[in-house]
Amino acid sequence: MSHRILLLGAPGAGKGTQSAKLAEEYGVEHVTTGDALRANKDMETEYGTPRSFMEAGELVPDPVVNEIVEAALADADGFVLDGYPRNLEQAEYLSEITDLDAVIYLDVDEEVLVDRLTGRRVCDECGANFHVDFQPPEEPGVCDECGGELIQRDDDTEETARERLDVFYENTEPVIEHFRDEGDLVEVDGEATPDEVFERIRGVLDE
Ligand code: AP5
Ligand code: MG
Repeated sequence: MSHRILLLGAPGAGKGTQSAKLAEEYGVEHVTTGDALRANKDMETEYGTPRSFMEAGELVPDPVVNEIVEAALADADGFVLDGYPRNLEQAEYLSEITDLDAVIYLDVDEEVLVDRLTGRRVCDECGANFHVDFQPPEEPGVCDECGGELIQRDDDTEETARERLDVFYENTEPVIEHFRDEGDLVEVDGEATPDEVFERIRGVLDE
């Protein structure tokens, strides 16, 4: 069976961390608007470049992200979708272009999210995720996977992290309510080690 999995959660909830594990375990594509936009920050669009929105912690305009997702899903035979939809308009668009087999919401408390975001480090080369306290690399500043340099994302300062959380509570919580109302949402407690959270998600998918 091909898996079409939607992973919802606030900034820092562990979407990227769990998506990487899911992609490996189930052999599906990791489709993530955040990574796609970071790779195209200075792409010219009629709304300007993604960079200005991202560095302010705001949403990039819907037409830009809708197009990214549509192209990525058209190429994928099974996927885990991370970072989309982030508002009801995007949710409506998604329902027009694909069906989903599972919708999982990773639930994590706000203060835990801020600690996860401000301590995150990512590999400049391969994109692997670390955390200075919760998932430290063997050698500070160096990627365990590829030896690349670990950097802090521009939007992981405390100020921008809090702005992103505000944007999430205002725009994306209604999306979670929407899937809950439809009876499709499975909530997973995201406050445990990455491996424990992964086991919980696997439990849901293998049911
Ligand atoms: P995006 O890249 O999607 O960022 P986000 O939603 O804010 O989520 P994050 O990537 O910050 O968190 P995550 O849930 O992936 O957590 P992670 O696994 O890394 O979007 C960035 C920007 O792009 C947006 O602000 C917007 O501008 C734009 N954008 C993207 N999609 C868009 C859309 N659809 N529409 C419009 N604009 C869009 O984990 C975080 C940290 O915690 C890591 O350090 C990790 O090591 C650690 N950690 C993970 N799991 C655990 C655990 N279980 N225990 C302890 N630590 C953990
Ligand atoms: Mg992410």
